[in-house]
Amino acid sequence: AQSERDQLYKIHEVAQSFFQEQLHETEEGRLIGLSYFKERGLPDDIIRKFQLGYSPEKKNAFTEYALEKGYSKEIIEKSGLSVFPENASYGIDRFRERVIFPIHSFSGRVLGFGGRILKNNAKAAKYLNSPETEIYHKSNVLYGLNFSKQAISKQNLCLLVEGYMDVIALHQNGIQNVVSSSGTALTTEQIKLIKRLTENVTILFDGDAAGIKASFRSIDMLLSEGMNIRIVLFPDGDDPDSFSGKHPQEYVEQYIAEQARDFIDFKAEVLLQEANTDPIRKGEAIRDIVKSVACVPNALKQEIYLKEVSSRFGLSEQSLFNELGLQKQVQQ
Ligand code: CTP
Ligand code: MN
Ligand code: MN
Ligand code: MN
Ligand code: MN
Repeated sequence: AQSERDQLYKIHEVAQSFFQEQLHETEEGRLIGLSYFKERGLPDDIIRKFQLGYSPEKKNAFTEYALEKGYSKEIIEKSGLSVFPENASYGIDRFRERVIFPIHSFSGRVLGFGGRILKNNAKAAKYLNSPETEIYHKSNVLYGLNFSKQAISKQNLCLLVEGYMDVIALHQNGIQNVVSSSGTALTTEQIKLIKRLTENVTILFDGDAAGIKASFRSIDMLLSEGMNIRIVLFPDGDDPDSFSGKHPQEYVEQYIAEQARDFIDFKAEVLLQEANTDPIRKGEAIRDIVKSVACVPNALKQEIYLKEVSSRFGLSEQSLFNELGLQKQVQQ
């Protein structure tokens, strides 16, 4: 007999084919889903490569399909693809009237889905994702890794973006060493997945307040794992997807190469802008940077970073070392 995990993998495969067929082979899917992807500039080969799909408006289209295929109510429910309200004999699809992004494991198995709403409707969440299941643990997965792993190894660099569309748009533009944390701060497990391929990460987060906030959290996580990091900030209002859509590959690559800064420069610029000339806030900004330095596991690297902080702010190395010692105590 098939184990429950096997059945869950299998039903995700079935669902992926179902959503893909809905996108390409039904009038509703072509009219609503495919035209949405086309409007966002995605060509057919990219739509196929990322196995993009469409979930119809009908509230139980997938549930019915899966039941007909012989999947039990129990497995369908455990997959997170449907909910069966109590006392009801029917199930309701989780994803309805959304375009679908399959989420793959390192080796390319479908583990879950993200579904994007078609109209920017303030009432509903823009993205709806699969819940945690026996096969999908959000914190262990990086979107796009299965498509990008060779390029990451080959270039010895991983670009880290926030969203599904950022990964896809960069691939379309010929930049293939990219993964997404799917809008949340990076976890240790996710960093370890990257570390199998490279120790170098360039963070490309959205040029908005949320992007800066997310990048701050990711910086400390990455430093703690001993990664070498650089940060690129996009012009306000742009994310890698929208930026990449406006410029050719060479321009985007050049922008990334030229704008990439180390975390000290990045944090200094963001925090000092906020601090203005207020000496108390300036002190807090420096302490915040030293806090990141304290995350670095290698003592030699720590010293090099502290020297940089020292010369950048005109502070003695001794006082920074004292601060570093305090921060390390706090972190323990
Ligand atoms: N996200 C999510 N749920 C939301 C909003 C965002 O899971 N309600 C995740 C998605 O993985 C999304 C990422 O966070 O791709 C980044 O969010 P955002 O920048 O708002 O979306 P974009 O990826 O830029 O989406 P789009 O370009 O389609 O508008
Ligand atoms: Mn598990
Ligand atoms: Mn954003
Ligand atoms: Mn974005
Ligand atoms: Mn976007």
